[in-house]
Amino acid sequence: MMKGINGLIFAIFVVGLWIQICCGQNISRGSFPEGFVFGTASSAYQYEGKVVDFSNADVANDQYHLYSEDIKLMKDMGMDAYRFSIAWSRIYPNGTGQINQAGIDHYNNLINTLLANGIEPYVTIYHWDLPQSLQDRYLGWLNPQIIKNFAIYAETCFKEFGDRVKFWITFNEPLNIAVQGYDVGLQAPGRCSVLLGVLCQGGNSATEPYIVGHNILLSHATVVDTYKKKYQPEQRGSIGISLNSYWYEPATNSPDDIQATQRALDFNLGWFIEPLILGDYPSSMRTRVASRLPSFSKIESTLLKGSFDFIGINHYTTWYASNNNINIVGVLLNDSLADSGASTLRMDDGNNPLQSIKDALKDQKRIKYHNDYLTNLLAAIKDDGCNVKGYFVWSLLDNWEWQAGFSSRFGLYYVDYNDKLKRYAKDSVKWFKNFLAS
Ligand SMILES: *[C@@H]1O[C@H](CO)[C@@H](O)[C@H](O)[C@H]1NC(C)=O
Ligand SMILES: *[C@@H]1O[C@H](CO)[C@@H](O)[C@H](O)[C@H]1NC(C)=O
Ligand SMILES: *[C@@H]1O[C@H](CO)[C@@H](O)[C@H](O)[C@H]1NC(C)=O
Repeated sequence: MMKGINGLIFAIFVVGLWIQICCGQNISRGSFPEGFVFGTASSAYQYEGKVVDFSNADVANDQYHLYSEDIKLMKDMGMDAYRFSIAWSRIYPNGTGQINQAGIDHYNNLINTLLANGIEPYVTIYHWDLPQSLQDRYLGWLNPQIIKNFAIYAETCFKEFGDRVKFWITFNEPLNIAVQGYDVGLQAPGRCSVLLGVLCQGGNSATEPYIVGHNILLSHATVVDTYKKKYQPEQRGSIGISLNSYWYEPATNSPDDIQATQRALDFNLGWFIEPLILGDYPSSMRTRVASRLPSFSKIESTLLKGSFDFIGINHYTTWYASNNNINIVGVLLNDSLADSGASTLRMDDGNNPLQSIKDALKDQKRIKYHNDYLTNLLAAIKDDGCNVKGYFVWSLLDNWEWQAGFSSRFGLYYVDYNDKLKRYAKDSVKWFKNFLAS
């Protein structure tokens, strides 16, 4: 707790000092390098909607029908770009086989309307919504057969949309797919063996997250290879991946905690970024997961190395890490979290779900978050020489948030789920509008 308070004061001090010395005024779009992209982000399952039933994301934000209106909102704010995902099952309802032309038409309309309004589409090919039939047929990401099926689906996207889409993101947050879906079992397909498997109907938290991560990495590398060889020379787009990671700070200055901090990062970002850069998993994962961690052949390793034009980092918050080598809970869990040998404690919590519309529109906390984040991002670019190209806000609208359902509201726009999904600008919309105009 003490540490948390010190950390917070330290952060504010640094930000305050930087503003004072560097600029004497608030940042705006003009503070960023020429061509720096500002956008908002979304995903198909959380936004599009299907049929009328509020028990899951079947309606979501009904962006399937309301996209023209939503594009007006982005344009009005002054955003340059929109990151959205294609739903695999809209293109291939069975995962493979017959193409669904209505799905192709929908994304053509969305892409064309974005471009007509001067908004650059950034398209995520897979944002967690696996076609059910691939889960039924061969357990989806657990089976290497998925690599071929994903490659066919991705290639269809390049063929159909690549003349206009210049930024492709193969996967959103592979770490979350592996850990939430196959380790703790909180998200689809809800597999786990932690706590003796009482929470889940099947799974193995000690092995499946690594198999799934492995198949995702190989799917990514295969698709990037195809894009670079067959599509990029003519379409001239770029392709990358979005990885999520927390940042970690050691809970104390002890060497054990400092090492645990590095391991926590290895088991978050390193798990996916090291294969993409170096062709193999971090050595701490090789040592600690040992024979449960799949290996890459020489050919696979070469295919992975450098398989991106850019890397997206989805960053939420920062945790304290401490060493956890003899933790009984960790042994009982026998999963990827225990494998890291680090326990973590979150520094802060940013979301207030239960609010009236009136209160929800006054989102000063969100404004402060973006202002502080962008100020420090700019310092990373200008002072540390980091090559950062853009900033995408999650999210344009309040939306269906996986296990939290409709109870959390991350949007710049408030969505009234009780009144025809009407959108209302929160104060953060005004803040961004002003920030982007100046
Ligand atoms: C800078 O922005 C913050 C957040 O919007 C605001 O509270 C503050 O008044 C602004 N300061 C100046 C000098 O404009
Ligand atoms: C999907 O699979 C089912 C059963 O395997 C089949 O009856 C149906 O025709 C397939 N639909 C498409 C669009 O391929
Ligand atoms: C953890 O799970 C793996 C894979 O099922 C198993 O081989 C290993 O014995 C388990 N470890 C413990 C401590 O239960």
